Amino acid sequence: MITGGGRGLGKAIALLLAAEGVNIGITGRNEKALKETAAEIEKAGVKAAYAVFSVDEEAGVKTGIDELAKTLGGIDILVNNAGIGNFGALDKMPATEWEQVIRTNLFGVYYTAMAAYPYLKASGAGDVVNVASTAGLKGSANMSAYAASKAAVISLSQSMMAEWRKQEIRVITLTPSTIASDMSIQGGLTDGNPEKVLQPEDFAEWVRDILKMNRRAMIANGSIFSTNP
Ligand SMILES: NC(=O)c1ccc[n+]([C@@H]2O[C@H](COP(=O)([O-])OP(=O)(O)OC[C@H]3O[C@@H](n4cnc5c(N)ncnc54)[C@H](OP(=O)(O)O)[C@@H]3O)[C@@H](O)[C@H]2O)c1
Repeated sequence: MITGGGRGLGKAIALLLAAEGVNIGITGRNEKALKETAAEIEKAGVKAAYAVFSVDEEAGVKTGIDELAKTLGGIDILVNNAGIGNFGALDKMPATEWEQVIRTNLFGVYYTAMAAYPYLKASGAGDVVNVASTAGLKGSANMSAYAASKAAVISLSQSMMAEWRKQEIRVITLTPSTIASDMSIQGGLTDGNPEKVLQPEDFAEWVRDILKMNRRAMIANGSIFSTNP
């Protein structure tokens, strides 16, 4: 189950896990992108399903996750990937926009994880990958809402790990640096040059490799950077 699986990092993870034989559920707000991505996933010979909901609305998240779990026969892996990156100075960003970043990035992870938890527990071998950001490790100019949201995701994820490992669920907190995607290119963080800058596929390979580790081993926290952007 991958939130924000219709494009960007989420789509790259979906396609790579499908190539490993994993059935995939993707979620997002853009049905057209989800439908197209689901068709691409099916080409790998696995089952694909999608649900349309906004991660900041608790009831919609629960309904969507329940439907996907029913269609796919449960949830073993949840990738909390959906997020928004609105950047701007503290005194320039309207309070409503600031709040929306927190609602999407923090509450989105919380609502989705809570909706998936009964299925992950039932699986007896669950995995949760929470996609935070290096921006959450330290505040910086024009990043206040995004950095605060990701710092909170790191903290939530670490608490989740401490509680859910008792249920054989590995909770993995990832803090990627800039990766070429709509968010980073439109946000002016990078030109996305594939010769120099991390691509969504690099992140997806890392996620796949972490998930493939022996179940007695859990990467609790990790960062990934471009070597020389
Ligand atoms: N790219 C980077 O440099 C970078 C670095 C560190 C961390 N990250 C994190 O990686 C994750 C993926 O980012 P990306 O770079 O792939 O960004 P992206 O290309 O902008 O994609 C964002 C994804 O999140 C989904 N999404 C956004 N708001 C949503 C909402 N309210 N409800 C449901 N889905 C929503 C979008 O789906 P729809 O369009 O269908 O709504 C889309 O699939 C984010 O959490 C981001 O903060 C990215």
